[in-house]
Amino acid sequence: RTYTKIRQLLARQPLGETVRVAGWVRTRRDTGGFSFIEVNDGSCLGNLQVIADKRLGNYEAGIKRLTAGCSVEVEGTVQESPARGQAVELVAAEIKVVGWADPETYPLQKKRHSFEFLREIAHLRPRTNALGAVARVRSRLAYAVHAFFQERGFIQVHTPIITTSDCEGAGEMFQISTGQPSGGPGTDFFGRRAGLTVSGQLQAEVYALALGDVYTFGPTFRAENSNTSRHLAEFWMIEPEMAFCDLAGNRRIAEELLKYLLDDILAACAEDMELFDRFIAKGLVERLRSVAGQDFAHITYTEAVEELQHSGRTFDFPVRWGIDLQSEHERYLTDEVYRRPLVVTDYPAAIKPFYMRINDDGRTVAAMDILVPGIGEIVGGSQREERYEVLERRMQEAGIDLDDYRWYLDLRRYGTVPHAGFGLGFERLVQFVSGMANIREVIPFPRTPGFAPC
Ligand code: 4AD
Ligand code: MG
Repeated sequence: RTYTKIRQLLARQPLGETVRVAGWVRTRRDTGGFSFIEVNDGSCLGNLQVIADKRLGNYEAGIKRLTAGCSVEVEGTVQESPARGQAVELVAAEIKVVGWADPETYPLQKKRHSFEFLREIAHLRPRTNALGAVARVRSRLAYAVHAFFQERGFIQVHTPIITTSDCEGAGEMFQISTGQPSGGPGTDFFGRRAGLTVSGQLQAEVYALALGDVYTFGPTFRAENSNTSRHLAEFWMIEPEMAFCDLAGNRRIAEELLKYLLDDILAACAEDMELFDRFIAKGLVERLRSVAGQDFAHITYTEAVEELQHSGRTFDFPVRWGIDLQSEHERYLTDEVYRRPLVVTDYPAAIKPFYMRINDDGRTVAAMDILVPGIGEIVGGSQREERYEVLERRMQEAGIDLDDYRWYLDLRRYGTVPHAGFGLGFERLVQFVSGMANIREVIPFPRTPGFAPC
């Protein structure tokens, strides 16, 4: 059986044609001789109105018992709709009830549910308008990420999920256990220590130094016990890595990528974006258009600190040169001062990982974070330290066991080149694009401390 997707049907409006659709009932309303059934198949936000004549064979026993959540297959003729707000409707010749949904227990009723409530029913929440829209937007963004890099000749690399290297050095690596530890604590992966990757960067560097421009896009894990609206223990990250590239080149690619993604999503998912604009974040579409249409702002970390110190604000976390910028500082800069994405570069070496390239001043590194209004950091990246001696010294200072990273140092022994890359947090991106306040709404099954089953 082939079915017509409601998305195609509403776009193409094939008046007079006979089609079959399959989906889930949203509502049913009866008048004298007819029932009006709103069916949604997830292909788009819009429902298809199905008109069922009481002369249909299963009208009393089947159709009149349909309630929200039931699954149906409908065959019928497409006709122009006299109702407002929809162009076409389907006059049913046959409605087959595929699966019932007990109205006494089905949790999705017609009213709007809170996102907190929906998180508890992760297995049913994609059937709501908002979460369905998020899923479609997320899928399209992933597609557009690949399109952006593939169009520019980047090679996609599948970096490993199981690894021994803690790229960010922040001690947030989940350790893996086979369940049968053989060599004592810390050697749970068949006799050696291994964990879940916090970033594919170090392995992406390996491929960049062979293939030039590469990217990886996969799940990453952080064992952080934080309960915020922008942190997950499992999230997806897009990480391009470019050989023969410095910080300025890195910044250009990041800005180009973000603008490309915004342009694409506004055009490809206009209806879903309109929903977010109406119900989630007023004015969202206009704001994103303006972000895509103008240059990002750029300041150095040192300038950011001066700006914060001269702001006349008292922050919970006092500002002085050397601190890591806290979310209240980032939000002040993006939401109140710049009101557009802000690239902050050249952070103190002491608060950044070992792989970032030391600047000539000896105390800052060629790092870049991109901060966006409403969220804060969405991108973190840098030019990498390509000088063997400098890198070795920094790793020693950071207390890293060099034996575990001989391969990484080798990249600087054999044909080293300036190279750079960044990580774009995919969920932070979806949050930015959808206007969702909490990151738990933009990933199908959020993993945070105490996550709901499923
Ligand atoms: O700034 P981060 O830690 O950078 C790296 O991992 C680099 N190795 C990336 C690179 O240069 N290839 O993380 C990058 C981005 C952040 O800016 C943020 O958007 C996202 O990943 N991120 C998280 N998103 C959700 N939950 C978390 N716990 C996140 N931690 C980082
Ligand atoms: Mg970061």
